[in-house]
Formats: sequence, C-alpha cells, structure tokens
Amino acid sequence: MNGLPAHVAIIMDGNGRWASRRALPRFFGHRQGVKALKTAVRYASRRGIGALTVYAFSTENWTRPREEVDFLMDLMHKTFVQEIEELHREGVRIQLVGDRSTLSPDILKVWNDAEEITRQNTGMTFNVAFNYGGRQEILNVVQALVGQVDKGEITVDEITETTISRLLYTHPTPDPDLIIRTGGEMRLSNFLLWQAAYSEFYVTDVLWPDFGEDDFERALQDYSGRERRFGQVLAKEQ
Ligand code: IPE
Ligand code: IPE
Ligand code: MG
Repeated sequence: MNGLPAHVAIIMDGNGRWASRRALPRFFGHRQGVKALKTAVRYASRRGIGALTVYAFSTENWTRPREEVDFLMDLMHKTFVQEIEELHREGVRIQLVGDRSTLSPDILKVWNDAEEITRQNTGMTFNVAFNYGGRQEILNVVQALVGQVDKGEITVDEITETTISRLLYTHPTPDPDLIIRTGGEMRLSNFLLWQAAYSEFYVTDVLWPDFGEDDFERALQDYSGRERRFGQVLAKEQ
C-alpha cells in the first residue's frame, strides 16, 4: 500500500472530443478544460500533494491548425494572468516546464512573473508543461553537458543520472509517482520520458473537461493499492 503520491503528473487529454460530442468547435473544449484544471490544482493542493505537473501544450502541438495554436496560447496567457494571485494566496509555487527559447516574449513574461512572485511559497509545486517535449528536454540536457565538457568544466565520467536529472526542466521536483491520462489513450505522447521510468500509470476514459474531484480521488485511491517494486523482489516473496 502507498500513501499519497508526492508528485502527480497529468496528461490532460480529450478537450477536442468533449467539444465534438456536443457539436461544438474544439476551442469550447479547451475553455472547459481550463475549468477542470482549476479544480484539479485546488484539489491537489488541498489534498496535500507535494507537486502537480500538468501537460498543457506539447512541442508537437505546434503542428495543429494555426487558429487552434493561437487560441491555446491566448487562453493559457489569460488564464495565468487571472489565476496567479489566487494561487499565490494558496501558497502554490509555479514553475514553467518546457522550452522557453521558442515562446513569445509576452507569454514568457507571464511565466517569469508567476515564478518570481511565487518562488518563496512553501505549498504545492505546480509545474506547467508548456511547449514541453520529453525528447527536446533530453536533447537540451545533452547539449548543456557536452558544452560543459567542451569548456573543460566537467569530465565525461562526471556525467551521472543525478547530473542529468538536475538539468531537466522539472528540477528540483522528484520524479512523478503517478501519471494520470484522461481521454483513454494508452501512451505517453512525449511526456516526462526520463522522469516516468518508475511512475505508476492511470488511464481513464473520462475526457479532461469532465475530470472532477471524484475522478482525481479515484486515481489516488487506485495508486494507493499499487505494489511498486522498482525492479526488486519484495521481501515477502523471497
Ligand atoms: C488536450 O486535448 C489539450 C491539448 C493537447 C492542448 P486535445 O485537444 O488533444 O483533445 P482531443 O484529444 O483531440 O480530444
Ligand atoms: C498530449 O495530448 C499533449 C497534451 C495533453 C498537452 P495530444 O492530444 O497532443 O497527444 P496525442 O496526439 O493523442 O498523442
Ligand atoms: Mg488529444
């Protein structure tokens, strides 16, 4: 039996299908998805979860139609401008997890401000994976390490799993204990490739805009009954 996961990560999928089922344009689903996100963040924070990471926009999502990409950028921008104060009051620490180099200056400013304002908070860490891709993240680490070796700052032997982990966008958040995916697909879609090595996976058919506190609680309960082995043979089986 496990207690509460210290770090929960969520692949918030199914906004488009939620809208299509109602014969609405996809962006209605994204707007509704923001409401589900607000509920999830508050629930996780009040439930005492140490860190919550949500997958909000992947490096592959840029390939969607231009109007959808623009809508998502604008929606995230407005949402965070509106929500920062309340999250700050709740003691939440916000961190952007993703490639900053290709984000527009306005979007980047919102994130930088959110991080700055909430830096000293001691409540839940809220990581937003935005312009995030697991392979891009690992590539970024490789380039940084090769650069350090090139300059003679470190030797190849000094590269360890710890030095790699420290350079990931999610640092200093520990690896996720539980990854929840809504919308029913059984895949990672380039999310937290390094960090997910021993995460428990929970997939629900519930579409993200419908994901409420009860669904979140069900995932936590399911996690509490999992047996995590990390490749070992448990003492009772020896
Ligand atoms: C997830 O919902 C939100 C983002 C990827 C930004 P989708 O937009 O992928 O919704 P479906 O999977 O098409 O239903
Ligand atoms: C994963 O969902 C990305 C986010 C939730 C932001 P996608 O809808 O982009 O993933 P695929 O295309 O189904 O793999
Ligand atoms: Mg999807």
